[in-house]
Amino acid sequence: MPQSKIAGVGMYVPENIVTNNDLTAYIETSDEWIQERTGIKERRYAHRTNETTTTMAVKAAQIALQRAGIKAQEVDFIIFATLSPDYYFPGCGVLLQREMKMKEIGALDIRNQCSGFVYAVSIADQFIKTGMYKNILVVGSEKHSFGLDFSTRGRNVSVIFGDGAGAVVMQPTEAKGILSTHLHSDGESAEILAMCNPGTHANHWVKVPVATFDDAPRGEMFMSHAMVENAQNYPNMDGPSVFKKAIIKFPEVIMEALEKNNLKTSDINMLIPHQANLRIAQFVQQKLQLRDDQVFNNIDKYGNTTAASIPIALCEAWEAGKIKEGDLVCLAAFGSGFTWGSVIMRW
Ligand code: UT7
Repeated sequence: MPQSKIAGVGMYVPENIVTNNDLTAYIETSDEWIQERTGIKERRYAHRTNETTTTMAVKAAQIALQRAGIKAQEVDFIIFATLSPDYYFPGCGVLLQREMKMKEIGALDIRNQCSGFVYAVSIADQFIKTGMYKNILVVGSEKHSFGLDFSTRGRNVSVIFGDGAGAVVMQPTEAKGILSTHLHSDGESAEILAMCNPGTHANHWVKVPVATFDDAPRGEMFMSHAMVENAQNYPNMDGPSVFKKAIIKFPEVIMEALEKNNLKTSDINMLIPHQANLRIAQFVQQKLQLRDDQVFNNIDKYGNTTAASIPIALCEAWEAGKIKEGDLVCLAAFGSGFTWGSVIMRW
């Protein structure tokens, strides 16, 4: 059975840099608070109308394809991870297929938020191992800036997130490549980091303190005027609860990957953690007793780009010469769902 490998990696971030100080024009916050709590200095925001989640993904994908030495028409399958799609449906995968003039190949959108890229790599790995596909394009892309609450009310969420895209091409290899992938979920706390509307929940799970559903005409139930008036059209997060769970699950799922392959933390050449919060990454580093040169972070420049954060970080680490052939590379993510996972590979 062939193994799979990452044959090319690319990234794209919008030109528009938004500093912490820029945010203080709309939100009661400070550069000091944001840097101290998250490590973020700035993030990118996509152009309001000329850039979408898919157009950013196209730019990242073009670089990944070129580095893998293949043309768009040679891609066999697309896996697109995002929580900020261009449309509620259809997914971004088909828009990418259209924009890149690919053949009539399969396009799968996955919704695993911060773990989206890790889930996507795991799916691609299975398809390659079975011999079904040879060139899989895996992308993570987010345009968060379009749907954040830029008032003080939403500040615990809005200051964290940024826009951008990352992509990889996965191919079969005779050498080592991906050693294993590990995926998990626990829906018990699904609503503590969530954007519940628009949705069909009809308050079944979400006990919203306004009489939105009973009063709304049937066709409006998906996203009623009352929801918008009550700012229920934005993501919400119980940050401290997410933080506490993340610092347990990150080390756990990294150790799971190492143990499965009889490896130790000292064998890791590069850990690319999902860029959720620098404090989380530092906690994980300390817990696993990793040196600075074994972990890559770039949250200071881009904030949390959810499904795009790992491929963007992977791309920058690779471009900086911090990942070399034969290196043991570990990707790990934790986020909304909760979902979490890891990928361990020989580069
Ligand atoms: O990638 C998806 C997964 N997400 C994560 O992993 C996020 C995990 N959680 C976190 O990163 C942190 O919880 C946050 C960065 C979101 C928040 O940091 P925190 O240290 O947990 O702060 P907190 O939510 O406990 O809030 C502390 C205080 C509150 O004020 P009071 O009640 O103490 O007066 C907040 O209202 O900080 C206030 N606050 C802010 N102040 C200035 C919250 N957001 C801001 C802000 N600027 N942007």
